[in-house]
Amino acid sequence: MVMKFMHLKQVVPYIYILVFFWPTLLLADSKKDLLIESKTDLLTKSTADQQVVKHSIVNQTPIIIDRQARFHPITSSNGMVVSQETIASHIGADILSKGGNAVDAAVATGFALAVTLPQAGNLGGGGFMLLYLAETNQTLAIDYREMAPLAADKTLFLNRQGHVDNQLARFSALSTGVPGTVAGLIHVLERYGTMELEQVMAPAIELAQRGFKVSGPLAFSLNRAKNRLKNNSASARYFFRKNGNSLRQGDLWQQKDLANTLQKISDEGRKGFYQGTVADLIIAEIKRGKGIMTHDDLINYRVIEREPILGNYKGYTIASMPPPSSGGIHLIQMLNILEGWDLKTLGHNSGAYLHRLIETMRRAYADRSQYLGDPDFFPVPVSALTDKAYAAKLRNEIDTNKASASSQIKPGVMLPKESPETTHFSVWDSDGNVVSNTYTLNFSYGNGIAVDGAGFLLNNEMDDFSAKPGVPNAYGLVGDEANAIEPRKRPLSSMAPTIVFKQNAFKRNVKTTTAENKENNSKTNKPVMATGSPGGSTIITIVLQNILNYLEFGMNVAEATAAPRIHHQWLPDKVYVETGINNDTLKVLKAMGHNLQGSTRVLGRVQAITAESDVTRSNTTGNQLFGASDTRWPGGEAVPSQ
Ligand code: DON
Repeated sequence: MVMKFMHLKQVVPYIYILVFFWPTLLLADSKKDLLIESKTDLLTKSTADQQVVKHSIVNQTPIIIDRQARFHPITSSNGMVVSQETIASHIGADILSKGGNAVDAAVATGFALAVTLPQAGNLGGGGFMLLYLAETNQTLAIDYREMAPLAADKTLFLNRQGHVDNQLARFSALSTGVPGTVAGLIHVLERYGTMELEQVMAPAIELAQRGFKVSGPLAFSLNRAKNRLKNNSASARYFFRKNGNSLRQGDLWQQKDLANTLQKISDEGRKGFYQGTVADLIIAEIKRGKGIMTHDDLINYRVIEREPILGNYKGYTIASMPPPSSGGIHLIQMLNILEGWDLKTLGHNSGAYLHRLIETMRRAYADRSQYLGDPDFFPVPVSALTDKAYAAKLRNEIDTNKASASSQIKPGVMLPKESPETTHFSVWDSDGNVVSNTYTLNFSYGNGIAVDGAGFLLNNEMDDFSAKPGVPNAYGLVGDEANAIEPRKRPLSSMAPTIVFKQNAFKRNVKTTTAENKENNSKTNKPVMATGSPGGSTIITIVLQNILNYLEFGMNVAEATAAPRIHHQWLPDKVYVETGINNDTLKVLKAMGHNLQGSTRVLGRVQAITAESDVTRSNTTGNQLFGASDTRWPGGEAVPSQ
């Protein structure tokens, strides 16, 4: 008894300490987070380059889970694949786990999306891939955009009265450009991949052959597109139940003809698509629809490796897609204009910040309408448009208190209500190779025409040309001579797969023997972000805001992706706004004279990865990766590799 009493007496002081100091202990715990924050705050104040506190790679372990964040990315210390469809992301990540590099995984993901995300994943479309190769410290821009058939010309979509026939430009066999996806994916695999085509295509073939369970988002999307798809007899067969009803969530969906086409590609490479039976089926379908594409057009399709567009923004290098995409040029142009203001101090999504964004977007898109087109046909003034002095001139013309008016000469049109589809995916491997890829059929399910017997949809990318100067396309974009239809020309795009590099951040330890490479390695810019989005004309402003959220406002990639966005494209002279921008801010913008679109709309679906040096590893090439698949559409996923 005495012993027990003694024991209790000894414990009393501790109970006392616990009761009175518990709140302090709790505080101490939360202060641990604050400590990390304040350390980074100090960094913020030191140099402009280090504004990006949460991503600082200066001598500290990255903050893997930031307790202040409302949205959290998926993490990985190996590789990662982020795409808009979960099965495809897993297939890509699995290729990484099996030792494939980022290119192998990207090609596997690209073919898988053609099976699991038919609204945008494709064989019958085209796109752009930005590729960073760690060992050689090279960034390449792969152009596998569709080409106009040889017989196409300026009058293609004009009726007898000289008016643009939108039905022809968007929903007929004439709207189809020569597909580039298969050639593009094979091109990068052969040059920069490590695996055989057969190996990276096997999962897609199996998915098409054995089938997979239809997801909720896929069932929803197919059902929404039912009118367009039912217009074509092959699509009506491929994308619905045997009795003609819509596929439902949980249905097993097999695509035998698509499986055969994929198998042919896997067996024969490029020839398996651009020649032989698949090509015959494509041309037969085109002829049935009174289109003009020929076997020659297919055989002559070529992939082009281009120099990426490069720009600098406060200690970062931005690499993005050159023409025939307008994405890179205008992304850099807008960053150049914006870098003259202290955006961080203005505050994220404040009226003052959004006003500057809108005025910047207005000017970039005005230039787009006149100067952008396929560089093989039109001399695009790349350096003039991305020149810092030109940006400064545009910035000086912006009244920071008042909206300017877009040209009143051409009538604006509304952007389409129905969300069309493109899709982006980002891949990062454990050696630091990065792929940022955006590809598309243009609209959701392209023109709705499936190639009978071959199981895939055709694009309606020809509508991205300017069918007549000043007449807007489906995205309300106007164009001129630069983007007029010409034989074998590529239509202007807004797709903007982008990779951001931190300058002078990192000395890569590369196995190399050449003096040149050694020199290069010592100057290596470290890739810190891969991003991109669908969204037609809105893609460039979406990518811009995603990058600014990350670089300027220090958001993690999930926050940067979730944050509400706005869009302006010169014509129509309207600001498109997502939900989540508060009413007071909107009032400020209205008071400045901005014309706000009455209803809100959703802008894009970003699939992004960011990286910090993993300083906990002895090898400095190690990355801690963070991935986010946009919550604006369900069913995407960031998947780490093992
Ligand atoms: O290349 C372009 O800019 C368009 N064809 C992209 C279409 C698109 O992003 C539709 N998705 N939302």
